[in-house]
Amino acid sequence: MNQFGRLFRVHCFGSSHGPFIGVMIDAPKPGMDLCVADFDQALLRRRGGVLGTTSRVESDQPNLISGWADGRTTGAPLTLLFENQHQRSGDYQPLEAFYRPGHADWTAQVKYQGYQEKAGGGIFSGRMTLALVAAGVVAKKQLLPQIRIHARLVEVGGVSVENEHDPQIEAIMLTCREAGDAVGGIVECCCEGVPAGWGEPFFDSVESLIAHAVFSIPGVRGIEFGDGFSAARMKASQHNDRYVGPNGQTDKNGAGGINGGITNGNPLVFRVAFKPTNSIEMIQSTWNHETQEMAPLQIKGRHDTCFALRTPVVVESVAAMVLADLQLLSGCGNTCSR
Ligand SMILES: Cc1cc2nc3c(=O)[nH]c(=O)nc-3n(C[C@H](O)[C@H](O)[C@H](O)COP(=O)(O)O)c2cc1C
Repeated sequence: MNQFGRLFRVHCFGSSHGPFIGVMIDAPKPGMDLCVADFDQALLRRRGGVLGTTSRVESDQPNLISGWADGRTTGAPLTLLFENQHQRSGDYQPLEAFYRPGHADWTAQVKYQGYQEKAGGGIFSGRMTLALVAAGVVAKKQLLPQIRIHARLVEVGGVSVENEHDPQIEAIMLTCREAGDAVGGIVECCCEGVPAGWGEPFFDSVESLIAHAVFSIPGVRGIEFGDGFSAARMKASQHNDRYVGPNGQTDKNGAGGINGGITNGNPLVFRVAFKPTNSIEMIQSTWNHETQEMAPLQIKGRHDTCFALRTPVVVESVAAMVLADLQLLSGCGNTCSR
């Protein structure tokens, strides 16, 4: 369903062009300091308005609706609401006869029998990642202090980059925008300080939980841990990772911090592939369901040329949600050490 987690449970709701986007977290630790300003930095990293991203800029001011009093979490379900103020639903009117290629318009039509919100991509919009980032802020706050999570963009349109601020990105975006096209990217996430022993051998393996949460981010096409797909091309003698210390430290962390579904005490490392934005200005030929024939489609409006640029903080946030849940499941409090 549209909720994730056992003891740190996140429920997202709302839509891009409806009145609100919201998230309910059931339940954060009681007594945690929490104020609106705590969300600023993370929400700013997700926001558009710069080259290669949407020109729709919302204030993204969190309203703390429940589970919060006098600057602290109460321990009851915490609800945050974000008002949508800059919808331009008219942009979607010319698209009514089409299902955008690669987007979720057709599957939404089938599943919700036409009752779905169509403008702005409804619940399938990248704007829904606002809820994930808000949950991530709360999750990060209650993680063990030794756990540090950092994600960065490592590839854009097939070009290796240092991070989402790499100067090479400007030229890629300008060329792409000029052509009315879009590109994807790859984000790498590293979680340091995660204790060994979290996770389960089968369905609740740490890879399964992270992949489950990561695939809730719209536009994800793949995930790999540690050596990932390149492990299949290695000899065992290249792949095997020597232990180089008494606490499970390995030489090259080829497993990305997980063996047998259980954290091994090395940094948790995974990479996420994002597809190019489907809504492009370049003319595409696709099925017109009103005229019942193939027809040209040009998609105007406010779209990201490369939405992957905005996703490192989203990837960090879902990783934090998973780790906050695992931390509670492991019975690990703030005194737990590696
Ligand atoms: C931060 C973010 C921003 C996005 N912006 C756009 C956009 O401007 N236009 C668009 O067509 N898709 C955008 N997407 C992708 C759609 O939300 C996504 O393609 C759609 O939900 C279907 O994707 P799926 O099949 O991978 O679930 C964005 C995704 C993210 C994570």
